[in-house]
Amino acid sequence: MAFNSHGVAAVLSNVKGGDFLSSSDFNSEQTSALLELAIQLKSGDRRIDLGNRVLGLIFTKASTRTRVSFQVAMARLGGQTLDLNPQVTQLGRGEPLKDTARVLSRFCDALAIRTYEQKELIEYAHWASIPVINALTDLEHPCQALADFLTIQEEFGVLKGLTLSYVGDGNNVAHSLMICGALLGINIRIGTPKGFEPLNEVVEQARSIAAFDAKIEIGNDPFEMVKGAQAVYTDVWASMGQEEEQLQREKSFKGFCLNEDLLEEADSEAIVLHCLPAHREEEISSGVFESESSRIFEQAENRLHAQQALLAALLGGL
Ligand code: CP
Ligand code: NVA
Repeated sequence: MAFNSHGVAAVLSNVKGGDFLSSSDFNSEQTSALLELAIQLKSGDRRIDLGNRVLGLIFTKASTRTRVSFQVAMARLGGQTLDLNPQVTQLGRGEPLKDTARVLSRFCDALAIRTYEQKELIEYAHWASIPVINALTDLEHPCQALADFLTIQEEFGVLKGLTLSYVGDGNNVAHSLMICGALLGINIRIGTPKGFEPLNEVVEQARSIAAFDAKIEIGNDPFEMVKGAQAVYTDVWASMGQEEEQLQREKSFKGFCLNEDLLEEADSEAIVLHCLPAHREEEISSGVFESESSRIFEQAENRLHAQQALLAALLGGL
């Protein structure tokens, strides 16, 4: 899909003031326009000044990339962020979420929230009168998916018709890859051990919105799932909040390490992606992580460009 800057602004005008709780909050055209805006911002062709807007960050889980990329994105847009972690606010002492959301809406222009349950995020969005952004929940990581597809688009120039294979846990990252990938018309294959498949309702949701006949396939054989793919992706086997399952999961995920043998099955030009943080020699071998095929640090950088575009769109800076 080709957009000029007026086209991008027109397509994204409908998301102004809205939330980004799931990759499915944007339609196909809006998702493509957002990636186009991210490319324009990254290249320096486009500059946006939001005029001293304030993004509040409520993170109840650790974060390096998401937190810092939101902070730098707001700074580059002429705004700023406030750290509103529950440890430093009355939230940590039991002030109700619905009161916190309404008060923060009077001070801030948007909130980025990282928490466990998607329903808590939805509750924030219900009570807040400003845009609420999902900075990762147990269900989804939609900001990550934007950066991931931006990285693939930069590499291949297109997305439609390509195949991304994800091997590992059918988790939040896998869910957003399926939904966002479906919207962008890229085939998505998710290979997990039995019992660790993505949620059925998310698979069905992705299939129902798939553009350009994109296929969403789920399987339990990592070699079969990776065959011929242009992008191969993995994430940790135990996500934040699942630390006590680490040892059990290491056993269950045996054979799902993204190593040289597995990568051999992919397209000869395939790139390797990982949302980070990574556990070398668990879900990915050191060799693959550091290989010529790896675009992992380009992908990490793209968190900044994708989120700058997202903030500009939600805060109406176009
Ligand atoms: N990929 C990602 O979301 O990293 P952080 O947990 O460091 O934010
Ligand atoms: N699935 C991982 C992603 C971290 C960015 C987690 O939720 O911990």
